[in-house]
Amino acid sequence: MSITENESQDILGRSDLNDIEAILSITNEDAEAVQHIVKNNADTIFTWDYSLTRPALRKLYEKAKVGQWNASTDLDWSINVDEEKQVAMDLAAFASGLTPAHYGGTTLSKWGDKEWTEFAIEQRRWSLSQFLHGEQGALICTAKIVETVPWYDAKLYASTQVMDEARHVEVFARYLDEKLEGGYQINAHLRALLDDIVTDSRWDMTYLGMQIMVEGLALAAFGYMHQLTGEPLLKKLLRYVMSDEARHVAFGVLSLQEVYAQMSDAEIKERQIFAFEASLRMRDRFLQQEVWERMGIDPRKIMPVVLNDPTRVFFQQMLFSKIVPNCKKLGLLDRNDSWLRRRFEEIGVIQFEDFEDTGEEYLAFEIGKDIATPA
Ligand SMILES: [Fe+2]
Ligand SMILES: [Fe+2]
Repeated sequence: MSITENESQDILGRSDLNDIEAILSITNEDAEAVQHIVKNNADTIFTWDYSLTRPALRKLYEKAKVGQWNASTDLDWSINVDEEKQVAMDLAAFASGLTPAHYGGTTLSKWGDKEWTEFAIEQRRWSLSQFLHGEQGALICTAKIVETVPWYDAKLYASTQVMDEARHVEVFARYLDEKLEGGYQINAHLRALLDDIVTDSRWDMTYLGMQIMVEGLALAAFGYMHQLTGEPLLKKLLRYVMSDEARHVAFGVLSLQEVYAQMSDAEIKERQIFAFEASLRMRDRFLQQEVWERMGIDPRKIMPVVLNDPTRVFFQQMLFSKIVPNCKKLGLLDRNDSWLRRRFEEIGVIQFEDFEDTGEEYLAFEIGKDIATPA
């Protein structure tokens, strides 16, 4: 049973999930704005129960206290980054995330090394910019969790994540400013997703949207960039961020497992729909329409070809390699006649369901340990 047009219309406001025109029509209309205000509808909860009832969260909290690092002193910001040279080197390793040979008969077939390098530089700027904006989203969501989660252990842990996220915003902003001469505004699809997460009044939705979906995707994306870049400052920066990020995803898995086991089918269905909607918003942002525009290419013309680019399809699917096993561990895949499983089958990511989930994996990501190459 595939998703019906009505369901798609309800979830995303378009009847065809892959309607390129509809996806591209969502753009950032106030690109010059320096503020974006959303209403926070959630209750703030005090707890007077200071007993330690969740040892897994307490263990994570202890790990977080010793896992702190200082972006100013642990990273060598004096490293000179020659963008063009660096991207050319990285290009050899993983091209630009695209397959140049796939573009015969399009404007891109006229591109030489110069244009591909320029594209790769813009793409890196764009990607790191979206990481930066996503990190601010994480900072805000985690501060919100401190207020809204009813459990003492979780409030303590979340407070450490607030500090972690401040550090992540700091490093990405600094890298973009000092090494890449500036970045991009937030992508409209990412902003819509962050808005959905922040405005929802239910405390577990903040976790589901941020810790499971956004950070699950970030952990996979950081892993690929870390593995593929030869730029030493970026590589180390990503490694440090990943050591924190793996804990954050574990925080989501450990907390929600308990809550979702007790929820009714109707409540779980709302979570399944939320997870699927978040997946589509994240998928749509990876069309990187702003990069095409900056390159002088009409996204509407090139997108049908880009969507079938085998390298891009591979990278995009891999971004779900943490999300799908974590959703499985939370019981979200198979409740309600496997509703979410069917949706993940449709968007081609169900094959990751038995990859390692992130409930314990954070231990392997601690600084100083060799991290496994993403499969
Ligand atoms: Fe982060
Ligand atoms: Fe995080």
